[in-house]
Amino acid sequence: MIPVNEPLLGKREEELVLECLRSGWISSAGKFIEDFEQGWADYCGRRYGIAVSNGTAALQLALACIGLKPGDEIILPAFTIISCALAVIYNGGVPVLVDSDPRTWCMDVERVKEKINRHTRAIMPVHIYGHPVDMDPLLDLAKKHGLAIIEDAAEAHGAEYLCGKKSCAPAWRRCGSFGDMSCFSFYANKLVSTGEGGMVLTDDPALADRARSFRNLCFQPDRRFHHQELGFNFRLTNLQAALGVAQLERMDQIVARKRSMGQTYNRLLKDIDGLKLPAEEPWAKNVYWMYGVVLSDEAGMDASELAQALKERGVETRPFFLGMHEQPVFQKRGLFIAENYPVTERLARRGLYLPSGLALTEEQLKNVCQAVHEVLS
Ligand SMILES: Cc1ncc(COP(=O)(O)O)c(C=O)c1O
Repeated sequence: MIPVNEPLLGKREEELVLECLRSGWISSAGKFIEDFEQGWADYCGRRYGIAVSNGTAALQLALACIGLKPGDEIILPAFTIISCALAVIYNGGVPVLVDSDPRTWCMDVERVKEKINRHTRAIMPVHIYGHPVDMDPLLDLAKKHGLAIIEDAAEAHGAEYLCGKKSCAPAWRRCGSFGDMSCFSFYANKLVSTGEGGMVLTDDPALADRARSFRNLCFQPDRRFHHQELGFNFRLTNLQAALGVAQLERMDQIVARKRSMGQTYNRLLKDIDGLKLPAEEPWAKNVYWMYGVVLSDEAGMDASELAQALKERGVETRPFFLGMHEQPVFQKRGLFIAENYPVTERLARRGLYLPSGLALTEEQLKNVCQAVHEVLS
């Protein structure tokens, strides 16, 4: 079976993890934490990094830092992982959904303004499967209405967006460099992985201090066991950070490999009728975190049938996200009742992703494409 994801860990990871073990700094203090935080912030073009235990915690922490009042609304895509909506709910906010752009699969920025009202507090753009959200219009909207932006760049390590594309001086910026705070996951299937892990980035020193305090149970520096606010234990370990530091050293190589895998898939699958491939808008550099495909009507099958046929040919796949409005857990709580997001619903039923891990060889990639051809031709 060709696995849908297999991480690529090397000698450098081994070396730094061993160094960490031997130093005895195995918990959440230590030089690798600081190096990883600063290194990742520098890579993304941000001032401060606060490493946390996973990407879901990063989102929860970021929203805690901007301080939601009960009933504050956060606008996010219907087509995303449940972590985004959970983070809003855990903070006492209300998730408000928008449908996806059928090309990029990211939130349709045109739809965001329809959802802004006096309760809206923030917008949470999510760069889906490695393709950036069209950030310019969102940044304008946030400025106009005084909203925060909490960027979810969990799937978009190293992806880039052409900022100010309608201005005379557009500039490429990395995903994770936008808005008040940006969030990352370093789960095993991400471009950079610490096993489990996450990070919040910000340019605002006050938000950074708040995030550090919330991450660590809100211990007061001057009176250790006195707590003024409800904190969390979202700490990452130095051991995990050592993995991140090792991978950060070869970040350009990692991003180049992912982009080249995406381009090879594009080339080998482009002639299949009935298969829609991931977009790369002229203002975007997609890192193809997971190489997704969407079946059109002429394919004559849905994503679960394609997944089954590929499995029989030794290829593991994963279905696309199920929209937040279709999640039983939210419906049971009376959320999103009678809401419809047709693009999201279609993606959920007709989309899946193919093996995309960094350990995937060229030969395996070609075999995957061969199997897709066999099933769909
Ligand atoms: C867009 C997005 N946000 C958040 C997360 C949550 O990250 P974690 O699994 O590290 O909690 C993920 C996980 O894959 C994700 O894809």
